[in-house]
Amino acid sequence: MTRMPELLALTLAAATWWAVAPAQAAPAKDAPAEGVTVETGAEPAALKETPAQRDARMAWWREAKFGLFLHWGVYAVPAGKYGDNTGYGEWIMNSAKIPVADYRKFAEQFNPVKYDPVLWAQTAKDAGMKYIVITSKHHDGFALYPSAASRWNVADATPYKKDLLGPLVNAAHGEGLKIGFYYSQAQDWNNPGGAKSGFKEGDGWDAAHKGDYDAYLNHVALPQVRELLTRYPVDILWWDTPMYMDAKRIAPFAALLKLRPGLVTNNRLSGSFGGDTATPEQFVPVTGIKGDWETCMTMNGHWGYNAYDTNWKSSADLIHKLADICAKGGNFLLNIGPTAEGEFPPACVERLRDMGRWLRVNGEAIYGTSAGPFVQLSWGTATRKGNKLFLHVFDWPADGKLKVPLQNNAKSAALLVAPDKPLVVTRESQRLVIAVPAAAPDAVDAVVVLEIEGEPVTLPLPTVGAKATASTTLKGSEAANALDGTAGKRWRAPTDVKSAWLELDLGQPTAIGGFGLDEPDVWPRMHQQYTLEVAEGAAWRKVAEGKTDGHGIKQNITPVTAQKFRLTMGCDKGSPGVAELQLYRPE
Ligand code: GLC
Repeated sequence: MTRMPELLALTLAAATWWAVAPAQAAPAKDAPAEGVTVETGAEPAALKETPAQRDARMAWWREAKFGLFLHWGVYAVPAGKYGDNTGYGEWIMNSAKIPVADYRKFAEQFNPVKYDPVLWAQTAKDAGMKYIVITSKHHDGFALYPSAASRWNVADATPYKKDLLGPLVNAAHGEGLKIGFYYSQAQDWNNPGGAKSGFKEGDGWDAAHKGDYDAYLNHVALPQVRELLTRYPVDILWWDTPMYMDAKRIAPFAALLKLRPGLVTNNRLSGSFGGDTATPEQFVPVTGIKGDWETCMTMNGHWGYNAYDTNWKSSADLIHKLADICAKGGNFLLNIGPTAEGEFPPACVERLRDMGRWLRVNGEAIYGTSAGPFVQLSWGTATRKGNKLFLHVFDWPADGKLKVPLQNNAKSAALLVAPDKPLVVTRESQRLVIAVPAAAPDAVDAVVVLEIEGEPVTLPLPTVGAKATASTTLKGSEAANALDGTAGKRWRAPTDVKSAWLELDLGQPTAIGGFGLDEPDVWPRMHQQYTLEVAEGAAWRKVAEGKTDGHGIKQNITPVTAQKFRLTMGCDKGSPGVAELQLYRPE
């Protein structure tokens, strides 16, 4: 299995580090007047900019919405297998504790003669992707370009001997795509002194690892970042796993960013350097994130090529995820692990084709959109451009009535694919009802465009301002944190408790048709058992139960009208908790 670094959580020491609003993302409401320079934490003076300058720099990225992540390196040679274990990815060297000399032998077989960067860029473009981010050096320290700072690179250590990055940068730009580099600044499992997850600074599982971390930073990581930013006209720099990064160590990295004005960076240089984008990994945050953010996700369970992992997400699932991410204001960076020969696995190409086919018809409902006005829609999700709402219908209504919980008047409605055939919209108390044709124009995600008068107005969430009590609470992690409107603060049970409940009093009987919750960001992931009950007289009746994936859960329930609800959470590791809990009205 790909090992997720616990140290990320430790290093960044925040309850939900992925959601930490990037330091530069001043909320619109409090944004200083134009022309005022914003202080951005650890960013050096040269990177200071006004909100207007930042908006201009981020404009292409916010418009783009969909990108391709590429994890490529010598780990593609073992293709996920070491000994009898076929569950590895790009972490294979660390997870299997492979000695440096043995791991280096894989490079002798890394000869990607089928690598066709133009084909890769075209495949991404045909999938509707607008940018690519490729690993220039992952944690195994292997550089995909000829580096003067470390001979552990494609030119010096493989039979291929040529630069892999330059041709892809050119091909991407040639296709009109943006391109960026992932760079593992702290972890390096080959160069001595580089950080090794699970070991103390300067240490590792092989005597060859021993070395000074600062010497590694000064002689490998910093020179390599300089090489990358001076040699290649990249648009993005994507840091990862900031082990041992403190203000003194990040300053020279941050200073290098000014080599490429306009560069977009993520929030993983360190906890204190905000960067531009938050980076939820392998999940779509249930209650969303403010500011610029990007979910990165694998199509199967591994970032690096694994020949044995056939647990592919379906194209429909990936299209739903893209729509859902856009409806919450984020971008989707979808990963492929190419083979050691230089090809995309056929299952990935198939999924990209399906997504491209859908986007060619429905792209208007994705590119350049911002978050929709709804926290939850039982039948799908919604994106927005001004007063145009794009209703992404995953479950087409059997009765021909699409219910939209909006207080506004409608100006017009039509299927995205039939803009000249207006659909009839009527008002039914708290909602608009759009009369839609019997058959969905798309079985996966059919888009209805609804134009409304004025800013969208929705009913407040019934859980906002509701009263919360808990069976037990860890000091400082009060029950009210679960209803404070942000996943930043959480309710948590004391450490020795394995099951605990949270009771909500909505103040009056309220119709509820679903619920969603974000979980505290805790490593290793706690998969929590959950049960939602509703008070009926003196008794509690169960309306939902299941197990989370450690990130959160969103679920429709058979609509019920009640005032009191109780959520019981249980887990084997750690203690139960909830970062944010929401109950939803039916449409
Ligand atoms: C993690 C992993 C890494 C992967 C990355 C993608 O930090 O260490 O293998 O590259 O996430 O987000």
